[in-house]
Amino acid sequence: MDKYYDEDNQIIYNCDNLDLLKNLKSNSIDLIYCDILYNTGKVFDDYNDNIGDTDYAVNWYKKRIIEMKRVLKDNGSIFLHCNWRLDSYMRILMDEIFSPSCFRNRIYRRHSKERGFYRNFDSQVDIILYYVKDPANFTFNEIKSETEKVTPLFENGYIKERSKSVNFNGTIVDFKKLNKHYLVSKKELMRLYKNNEVVLIDNLPYRRSFIESVGNLWDSEEMLDNYSRNKVSDTYDTPKPEAVVEKIIKTCSNEGDTIADFFLGGGTTAVVAKKLNRKGIYCDINKKACDVTIRKLKEIQ
Ligand SMILES: C[S@@+](CC[C@H](N)C(=O)[O-])C[C@H]1O[C@@H](n2cnc3c(N)ncnc32)[C@H](O)[C@@H]1O
Repeated sequence: MDKYYDEDNQIIYNCDNLDLLKNLKSNSIDLIYCDILYNTGKVFDDYNDNIGDTDYAVNWYKKRIIEMKRVLKDNGSIFLHCNWRLDSYMRILMDEIFSPSCFRNRIYRRHSKERGFYRNFDSQVDIILYYVKDPANFTFNEIKSETEKVTPLFENGYIKERSKSVNFNGTIVDFKKLNKHYLVSKKELMRLYKNNEVVLIDNLPYRRSFIESVGNLWDSEEMLDNYSRNKVSDTYDTPKPEAVVEKIIKTCSNEGDTIADFFLGGGTTAVVAKKLNRKGIYCDINKKACDVTIRKLKEIQ
């Protein structure tokens, strides 16, 4: 497969991503982020966001996602950025290809402020589906907090495997009787307790930690689409803000890791990956996307 660009560990291919994917080695990528075609039917200056009807689109993605799973390392993660048109279909497809246990979260990214939708709720978010290849082994760089957080390690409702009686140093809590369950496995609960990371309040377990919890609603100003921030000088249609990709790459990969984006567009992923000292493999079927990205990569010192 011919490379279109290969410098500073950033490799770009100008071809159909399915052809590239079939030629990539298995277990070679740490993190995939793809801002896929939403299938809006819109024809942009730079590309046509029209795959076909939903069945056809899902089938089109199926071939590609099977390959994405194959090329992902065993401890790798994948993020698919889509919107309300396809997100539920993609969720089912991802469950089928990866397994429901590999689903980690659905991130809501606010893309716009008020847009003037009438007789409906203003559609202001898109969706990023987050899966890992192995739910027992994946990269997630947590953020340390200055202050201690104390959060409940239980919730209401009985779950057979998580509502057993637990002996906390002589205090026996019968979760089944309380109609509650603990949020981690019993083994993990006891490990945390022995490690002094669990405190009992009113005989119920709370986790003590110095980790910031990061929510799945991403709605800060820097995450908004460029046009919503009145930043109009884009060189390619529909760019994602760097802040979105930066958060994903920083959290779910480490320096030196290999990032891939098979729907590269104007190169946001490549720019962020290079700035964060990650290697990259990218693909776009449109030559202009590759050229715009190369120009941006060259501008980075
Ligand atoms: C939504 S845009 C990506 C925008 C990008 N995230 C950015 O920040 O600029 C999707 C891109 O996928 C590309 N694309 C569509 N079908 C493709 C295919 N089969 N193989 C490779 N690229 C494809 C389009 O040319 C388009 O540039």
